Amino acid sequence: MFRTGTDIELAASILRSGDVVVIPTETVYGLSANAFNPEAVKKIFAIKKRPLFNPLIVHSDSLTKVEQYVAEFPLKAKKLSEKFWPGPLTIVLKKSNIISEIVTGGNSTVAVRIPNHPLTIALLKLLDFPLAAPSANPFGFISPTTPQHVEEQLGDKIKYILDGGKCMVGIESTIIGFFEDEPEILRFGGISIEDIEAIIGKVKIKNNDFLENPIAPGQLKSHYAPKHKLIFGDLEKMIKKGDYNPVKIGILSFNNLYSMIPQENQIRLSKNLDLNEAAGNLFDSLRKLDKLDIEVIFAEEFPNRELGRAINDRLTRASAERY
Ligand code: TXA
Ligand code: MG
Repeated sequence: MFRTGTDIELAASILRSGDVVVIPTETVYGLSANAFNPEAVKKIFAIKKRPLFNPLIVHSDSLTKVEQYVAEFPLKAKKLSEKFWPGPLTIVLKKSNIISEIVTGGNSTVAVRIPNHPLTIALLKLLDFPLAAPSANPFGFISPTTPQHVEEQLGDKIKYILDGGKCMVGIESTIIGFFEDEPEILRFGGISIEDIEAIIGKVKIKNNDFLENPIAPGQLKSHYAPKHKLIFGDLEKMIKKGDYNPVKIGILSFNNLYSMIPQENQIRLSKNLDLNEAAGNLFDSLRKLDKLDIEVIFAEEFPNRELGRAINDRLTRASAERY
């Protein structure tokens, strides 16, 4: 049995009792538990069916608290936190002793973030512990950006969803790690690389096989996966190739419409070609396309800049083929 509402006192009491609560953030909904309570954290892994070695992000409401969770805070990381927190940036730093290895998947580093959502910040202020939280979806699925998304997939496994409405950023946080003080982007997300480099200069981008190498069908580790097969790349070419009946094709485009495909099977992520708006609509649109009576989703490749990189990253991981 679950309930949805805005009662942060109730959410706090469930969390204090060692149970999980779904929380809103500006990026996606999170499945949260007391990061200082290993038994509570284990419930997250069980509900998500997530492997235990995959570490969780620790969410807090203040920089002073975050400083207790890390062993060191390099200057560049500090600068980023001051610029972008609260906001969609996660920073991976050497952990302090009070962070348990159940949260970090056995790693000596911890991922920390101050989310930008008033309800969750108010909740964190009531608590004397931080919240460990991954995205509130079953492992390998699309992240939820509304309470309804969470209900559909995990509703029978959780007691309470804190309802913060639609997530404004709509794509997960950017993750940056500091290893031997050298910053490295581990995941594209809600803060662009351009904005990060404007603050701390050039950053390395972790070599990502999914993006660097041509993709052989079937070899791709499926993540952010919709149920329908998704093909990613040049929409014109995919449609021209004629492998599918046009009435069985769903289209996810930046702003184009295609006359040979039924209108109701087409979603445009931003009519004004705004990459932030497109990112915000991405996951909800994939879920909508998944519910249609179609055989395949054709998804457009976005310009490889700003939030377009995060969109391309998610679509690449969601795809079975590339054009
Ligand atoms: O926007 C977000 O980041 C959302 C909201 C809820 O905050 N959270 C989220 O969590 O996307 P999750 O667990 O779905 O993705 C977090 C990623 C995982 O790929 C995990 O492997 C990585 O962060 N991660 C966590 N701790 C790490 C660490 N110590 N070192 C390297 N990667 C880490
Ligand atoms: Mg996730």
